[in-house]
Amino acid sequence: MKLNIAVLPGDGIGPEIIEQALRVTEAVCEKFGHELSYEYGLVGASAIDQVGNPYPDGTHELCMASDAVLFGAIGDPKYDNDPSAKVRPEQGLLAMRKKLGLYANIRPVSTFPSLIHKSPLRADLVDGADFMCVRELTGGMYFGRPQGRSEDGNTAYDTCVYTREEVERILHLSYKYAQMRRKKVTVVDKANVLATSRLWRQIAQEIAPQYPDVETEYMFVDNAAMQIIQWPKRFDVLVTENLFGDILTDEASVITGSLGMLPSASIGIHTSVFEPIHGSYPQAAGKNIANPLATILSVAMMFEYAFELKEESELIRNAVAASMDAEVVTEDISLSGKAHLTSAVGDWIVDYVKK
Ligand code: IPM
Ligand code: MN
Repeated sequence: MKLNIAVLPGDGIGPEIIEQALRVTEAVCEKFGHELSYEYGLVGASAIDQVGNPYPDGTHELCMASDAVLFGAIGDPKYDNDPSAKVRPEQGLLAMRKKLGLYANIRPVSTFPSLIHKSPLRADLVDGADFMCVRELTGGMYFGRPQGRSEDGNTAYDTCVYTREEVERILHLSYKYAQMRRKKVTVVDKANVLATSRLWRQIAQEIAPQYPDVETEYMFVDNAAMQIIQWPKRFDVLVTENLFGDILTDEASVITGSLGMLPSASIGIHTSVFEPIHGSYPQAAGKNIANPLATILSVAMMFEYAFELKEESELIRNAVAASMDAEVVTEDISLSGKAHLTSAVGDWIVDYVKK
């Protein structure tokens, strides 16, 4: 098969973790006889620095012309504490999601046996937890307008908007995933307070009967935040709106033991994007210490979702699990106190794949 990939390393640790993910991609392609071609694109703060736009047209054209996008991370502290900055790196990621029509962000949460004791949660609670968060990605407060400030600068507002079409498509997708899994959907909202949540719940009630083999459960987001930690094994497919999904998935990463472990796939209308859920970890940038596993697992998702190459994807997941069994891991998930460098983890996984 011919794989034509856009590679957007972005900021902070983005380039170092992408480098390892790309090496793994190359090794897998070599092993299975796929032809890989890839091209780099600018995004985020580094794109602002170079061309003044966090998602330049050239990058969009590259993404549109590719079969999949491999994305690192974006964000730079120089923007975080400057509320007056007009152009921000995050706008690049949001523009990419919107322009590619990536309305669903799939974030699987599962545990690796050799990492169970790294979670601050009790081992018996997290052992065997395996659920999929489906985060709506192009609506809600992230994109609702108006957004801004009053003229005197003393009042600020964001708007949360959802249309029937947006809610229907994400719910249908969630039910379809549930049918391939343990057949349970948890719809997470704040329907006791928010109008958008009441629309979500109403539409969910309309759609649920179309999937009689799937059980539907409704949960308020505050309760869900508690249940994810208290009893993660109760969840199968958890579907929610953009901002709730952003927050709950960082929380859910605690189950796996590290934010450096969770991959994601953003899918929708145009080219799918595969990216770790973590950010650009600027404190670690250039130090070769960041955990590349979330990005490498995102490559596994890319093989499965974008190319329907299951065996390739399985091999990467096995390699990641084996690297943890062998304790060839970065400092965030090291149990023995012996931390390996980002590139050393990449080396080990590449060797495993080639074997
Ligand atoms: C994520 C990130 C982004 C988001 C930021 C960087 C804009 O936190 O992908 O979860 O909030 O969606
Ligand atoms: Mn986030």
